[in-house]
Amino acid sequence: MPVRSSAASLPFLTRGDLPPEIVVPPPGPRARELCADLATLEAPGINTLAFGDAILWLEALGANVLDVDGNRYIDLTSGFGAAAIGHRHPAVVAAIVEQAGRLVHGLGDVHAHPPRVELARRLCELAPVDDPRVYFAVSGSDAVEIALKSALLANGRSGVLAFEPAYHGLSLGALSVTSRPAFRQPFDQRLRPTVERLPFGWPVADVEELLDRARVGCVILEPIVGREGVLLPPAGWLAALASACRERQVVLIADEIFTGFGRTGERFAVDASDVRPDLLCCGKALGGGLPIAAVVGRGELLERWEHAGEARHTGTFVAHPLACAAALATLTVLEEEALAQRARRLGEGLATRLESWPERFADLSEVRGRGLLWGFELESAAAAKRLAGRAQERGILLLTGGPEGRVAQIAPPLTIDEALLETALDLLESAFG
Ligand SMILES: Cc1ncc(COP(=O)(O)O)c(C=O)c1O
Repeated sequence: MPVRSSAASLPFLTRGDLPPEIVVPPPGPRARELCADLATLEAPGINTLAFGDAILWLEALGANVLDVDGNRYIDLTSGFGAAAIGHRHPAVVAAIVEQAGRLVHGLGDVHAHPPRVELARRLCELAPVDDPRVYFAVSGSDAVEIALKSALLANGRSGVLAFEPAYHGLSLGALSVTSRPAFRQPFDQRLRPTVERLPFGWPVADVEELLDRARVGCVILEPIVGREGVLLPPAGWLAALASACRERQVVLIADEIFTGFGRTGERFAVDASDVRPDLLCCGKALGGGLPIAAVVGRGELLERWEHAGEARHTGTFVAHPLACAAALATLTVLEEEALAQRARRLGEGLATRLESWPERFADLSEVRGRGLLWGFELESAAAAKRLAGRAQERGILLLTGGPEGRVAQIAPPLTIDEALLETALDLLESAFG
């Protein structure tokens, strides 16, 4: 455990653009000790302790993470994409502190607060949705639940078309459209029987045939598949699918929880195809690290929620004041620093550098990505895990995903220092070797 030289409240990380420093092979003794405690305290399965390589985060700033043993890393996960503007961004911290001096918790859907109004206004301005209205959620999965419910309210058709692979969250409604069998199988009895599934990028003519045959009321998709392997749609696919939906009054739900707010080099990934979905789910990056998500949807559609009486979908912490304040600060940083454009530019550089990797590294069959979201398809889940472990030993944090866990993924903060990104890639190359 690092020894604090001064007041215990001072953080160790004072800048967020430093190269890694590994002072003890991770996981170090303090991490192992705390993991052992956690293993006896938490339900098994809610953490990755079973893999034996888990570190514990003590601090994070910008693109850096410091673990409890004093190792410093470059975070190529952006904390599951939530720290898109970097960890502990000063503007976000200042907004949280200021809001905490006024109102930490409100009365959810019963009595709102000013930052919530402002955030709703900003989301309506930013989202590529016609005549937009907002429905706040507490997590990405919650936003997906709201979107699926909204679609059912809109046209009463219970059928849903989802794609494979896809990750939309793990609450029961969201899980019904998530594809991975390992997530679904134990709960299969409770999952919606009305979900049809087609491979991502399936020919639109065949999708249309299914829309006509089944009572499909909505189509849900990730415009670029994230956690399930970083897959890009074929050219023109999203636009063709959107018009197939429009012709049939099928509600199109774009799940931009991972891709939203600049991750793939556009403000929203659908922007690259000029698609305006009926419902757009966003979360992760929105809160600058605090939990908040939302559905931005066409007003005519979301108006179907209107009824006398209590809200039919809400939660104690919905549109939490601290999260709304953090989100407003985050959106300002994203826009003022033009981070989507930055992600696009950095992504073009990455494409050039990563192009040769499959030839150079034996285990690696394909590299895919756009903006600052990239996936490395390895020959097996074991190879992907091995790569993540070797990267961690070198001070690089990345995640593995894809249906079989074969895809190592990087999603660095959109604010990452360019030289630091190069350093991270150098280290990643040595982890392959
Ligand atoms: C595309 C997508 N949808 C939904 C979710 C679920 O969000 P949450 O984990 O906040 O419930 C995720 C999370 O990774 C995601 O990537």
